[in-house]
Amino acid sequence: MSSNNQNTLRFITCGSVDDGKSTLMGRMLFENNSIYKDQLEELKSASLKYSKSKEIDYSMLLDGLSSEREQKITIDVAYRYFQTKKRKFIVADTPGHQQYTKNMITGASNSQLAIILVSAKKGILEQTIRHSYICSLLGIKNIILAINKMDIVNFDKNIFDKISKKYMKITKNYDFNKISIIPISALHGYNVVKKSKKINWYYGPSLLSILEKASINIKNDNNFALPIQLVQTNKQNKRRYLGLVTGGSIKVKDDITIFPSLTKNSIKNMFFHKKKLIQAEEGDVISIELNKEVDISRGDIFVKNTNSFILSDRFKADLIWMDINPAFIGRLYYIKIGHIMVGAQILKINFKDNNNQLKKDNIIKLEMNELAYAEIQLEKQTSTSLFKKNKMLGSFILIDRINKNTIGIGMIRDHSNLASNIFYSQSFVTKKHRNIANGHKSKVIWFTGLSGAGKSTIARKLEKRLFKTGMKTYILDGDNLRTGINKNLSFTENDRIENIRRVSEISKLMIDAGILVLVCLISPYENERKTAKKLFKKGDFIEVYVKASLKTLEKRDVKGLYKKARLGEIKDFTGISSPYEVPVNPNMIIDTEKNNIEESVNMLFNKIKPII
Ligand code: ADX
Repeated sequence: MSSNNQNTLRFITCGSVDDGKSTLMGRMLFENNSIYKDQLEELKSASLKYSKSKEIDYSMLLDGLSSEREQKITIDVAYRYFQTKKRKFIVADTPGHQQYTKNMITGASNSQLAIILVSAKKGILEQTIRHSYICSLLGIKNIILAINKMDIVNFDKNIFDKISKKYMKITKNYDFNKISIIPISALHGYNVVKKSKKINWYYGPSLLSILEKASINIKNDNNFALPIQLVQTNKQNKRRYLGLVTGGSIKVKDDITIFPSLTKNSIKNMFFHKKKLIQAEEGDVISIELNKEVDISRGDIFVKNTNSFILSDRFKADLIWMDINPAFIGRLYYIKIGHIMVGAQILKINFKDNNNQLKKDNIIKLEMNELAYAEIQLEKQTSTSLFKKNKMLGSFILIDRINKNTIGIGMIRDHSNLASNIFYSQSFVTKKHRNIANGHKSKVIWFTGLSGAGKSTIARKLEKRLFKTGMKTYILDGDNLRTGINKNLSFTENDRIENIRRVSEISKLMIDAGILVLVCLISPYENERKTAKKLFKKGDFIEVYVKASLKTLEKRDVKGLYKKARLGEIKDFTGISSPYEVPVNPNMIIDTEKNNIEESVNMLFNKIKPII
């Protein structure tokens, strides 16, 4: 059985603003009678209101959002459904503005064909190339280049030929299987649904008939893969595993291997809803009962043949950045691959241009809409595939850990084995042994707060008291470290991220060595403090927010830095020209405006001593 309708074509229309995407789709829907009467009435009055014209403005049919109408641009993905005698269509109409690349990617990621529109008048623009390149990255193999507004250029064949030639040259290296090129006028409907006599030198089919005949090739390789989305337990306490088959096919009694445990099993029963199945294939949503009951959770993958999948914590991928905030090397993000979500960091960024060529090596950040070939490190070994073998398990999205926005999308191209050649060697003397020998636990007390808030002063006094009770202590102070190991770091966002990373790794070594570590670091970003915390066992990382208002700090200004920052003599100064993100959930808050140093130290000592 197959729930995947082979006769439905999902396609995307993309191009630059004003190339006529919405007009084209409106025309296609209208001529296929996919517009209902009331929509038509609404369209007439909207045309009058916004275009001041009695002619129907077909572009309005797709520009569903009113803010779009007012701006006369498309700003979201609009999915439309229409049908001819030969085929059903689902079309993603996406915006052409640079800042809306994210919507275009969303639309393209599940399309089988792309119509790239260019205006005969303007020819190929940067945006045309960019969209074509993104389509190729996302695995769209079938392209229709629709050269629109042929009426404006007097149906000039030379212009058509020139644009065609240029497009073929540019996309020579792209991974397309078929490019059809067609001259049209969306406004007048020439060559859209029916062929037009106006363009008598064009012998090919109309746009609609190209769409009707386009081959649908969404198949991954033939290796069966079922990423488990849900584990259900029925009344007889039997477990069923539900998911979408993302490749190949499977029959009852087939042997399978389960990632990541790599255990063997076999199919006992298979269902689509309540109906028993004998066989299932790519595109089917099924649930499975296994012959051996084992521990399986969401995100595990059932495969028949292990060839297409690999368990690894590092890979190389094409990455498209979609967030206003740039991507930074070393910052921790969430990555979602199939149904698995884990922490991930970008290790290395190489820029790419629209011609699939590497431009610059080893960049430290990636801005919105930039494309890169990046090396990604996962927090733990995860089962993945290459994009060319399995689209779902070979692609991923990156998610911001704080606001949970989707900030990047990537396609896995290469499983790197760099990390696999490293073997952690565990000493015979462990942290536990050292803690017993020292007579106290080792933890990290992480003081965060603005410069001058009192972090170092408090930490020094606290250390003295703890040391006097016989504890092994050490202070890692931002200013001090910046005279040595962190000498090469400035106060840019990227360098601060690296500063925090280094200090948290050093703290980790020190608590492993049995020492109670006091860190004094502005550490202005919630994300990096969270990342630091994750390095430690629960309870081993105590975050103390040393609080004081900017007003008070400017008044105190012990080091004279605030004054200099206000005068513009210090760049990127925290609190003035660089942000400080107040801790969301610190273990303790020390307010140095309310309590003097002695009181603060007492409070900390009394809270910390009993748990060490
Ligand atoms: S962090 O932001 O990267 O965590 P860190 O704690 O290492 O900062 O260093 C902060 C100290 O560096 C401040 O207490 C101050 O003495 C000094 N400093 C010099 N320039 C700056 C700046 N632009 N912003 C903040 N602190 C600065």
